[in-house]
Amino acid sequence: MPSTVKNATLLFLGRRIVRARALLGDPAARLLDISPQRDPYPVYESVRRQGVLVKTKMGVYLTASHELCAQLLRDPGFGPLRAGALSPVDSSVEVDGRRLVNPVEESFLVRNPPDHTRLRRLVAPWFTPRGLRAQTATVERVVEEYLDEVAHRGTFDLVGDFAARVPIQVIADLLGVPGADHAAFARWGKALVNALDGVRDLGEMRALHAALREFEEFLDDLVARRRRHPGGDDVVSALAAHDDLSREDLIATTELLLVAGFETTVNLIGNSALAVLGHPETRARLLADPGHADAVVEETLRHDPPVQYTVRVPFEPTEVAGVRIPKGAPIMLMLAAANRDPAVFTDPHRFDPDRADVREHLAFSSGIHYCLGASLARMEGAAALRGLFRRFPGLTAAGPVRRRPSRVIRGAAKLPVATNVTKQHPIVQTIS
Ligand code: HEM
Repeated sequence: MPSTVKNATLLFLGRRIVRARALLGDPAARLLDISPQRDPYPVYESVRRQGVLVKTKMGVYLTASHELCAQLLRDPGFGPLRAGALSPVDSSVEVDGRRLVNPVEESFLVRNPPDHTRLRRLVAPWFTPRGLRAQTATVERVVEEYLDEVAHRGTFDLVGDFAARVPIQVIADLLGVPGADHAAFARWGKALVNALDGVRDLGEMRALHAALREFEEFLDDLVARRRRHPGGDDVVSALAAHDDLSREDLIATTELLLVAGFETTVNLIGNSALAVLGHPETRARLLADPGHADAVVEETLRHDPPVQYTVRVPFEPTEVAGVRIPKGAPIMLMLAAANRDPAVFTDPHRFDPDRADVREHLAFSSGIHYCLGASLARMEGAAALRGLFRRFPGLTAAGPVRRRPSRVIRGAAKLPVATNVTKQHPIVQTIS
């Protein structure tokens, strides 16, 4: 069977099994089967009520405990899960006779030391506070440019017309993608991000493979150009200068920065804006003090994080919270549920940018895989929120919010807003 068809079939069967088990009441399946339009937090609470670690019939373990999530993320005896044959791009996928690099499976996001350490170190310098200071002015300029474009319209889509445009521009600049290629870069980014939750059919699988193939060709060409003209201060120039770095590692590392830094940040901006639209007292504070944007972004990361969960597997058979866990058994660490653990956060379901312990949240994970772009994401989120409400202090929801069709990534796909109306519209969530 051709690998594309085999992968699509496996993914389709996987989804059928999840649906069947959800109907039978299996907590893991219920979680994976939540409609992205529904509020997932009551389901997380039902898992919490069942115990610190919940064994499910699907062979997956679940935890909503902040303490256990943090412990396992920092435990060197556990590592990330690799989807293997269930990945939409497994190691056998070839397009035009060439194997495709998998942007997630082959990146350092799911690799273990020493490879993880070696690859993360190569790109870490771009994410230090010093490196970021240089980028703040650029991000503020990009925010103002996009707000200029929507200012005359009266209504616009806060996600498509604004939030989605800021991070892609920032990553393109970081990687050193020439301006003429930004539109194609945004298209590849969207194709990769859409596949994060798996692909639904053969058509989507083929579209993903075609986008990856195009992106790889673009990167091969960009790397060749950077090798001919070295010395640039962008990430691709730096990676191209490492002769000992394999083509696969270079491509996977570059693609990881695009995948990890794109949709997550779009949803941080969208979720923070939703929080301000839904909390008049937060809006009043933000208007009086634009510096309050940092606290709003941080509390949004806790209260409604863009990445809802991650997975860890033990390298050896072990015992966790009194439960025997076989080697390689996946434990779903429900980061969004951990962020509302009453053992850590007082009145956890309340949105409160003033809470003192907000930084205890796990929205950026913990341990060696702690989000490399956390400071960049915070800076982008706060700059976007400050700019948005400074420009449009009376911004209001102007139609129903459509949620992203995703369970891992939580946020709005469409958020219509009006800039110059006096009447406040209720924020209504709809099904896409
Ligand atoms: C609000 C925005 C963001 C959120 C919520 C987020 C969340 C996360 C999480 C939860 C992880 C760890 C997953 C795990 O432990 O299994 C992670 C890893 C990572 N993130 Fe982010 N991220 C965001 C923005 C960014 C940005 C802007 C970049 C860079 C441009 C970035 C780059 C990375 C990288 C490279 C990793 C892998 C780190 C490693 O494995 O060592 N992220 N992110």
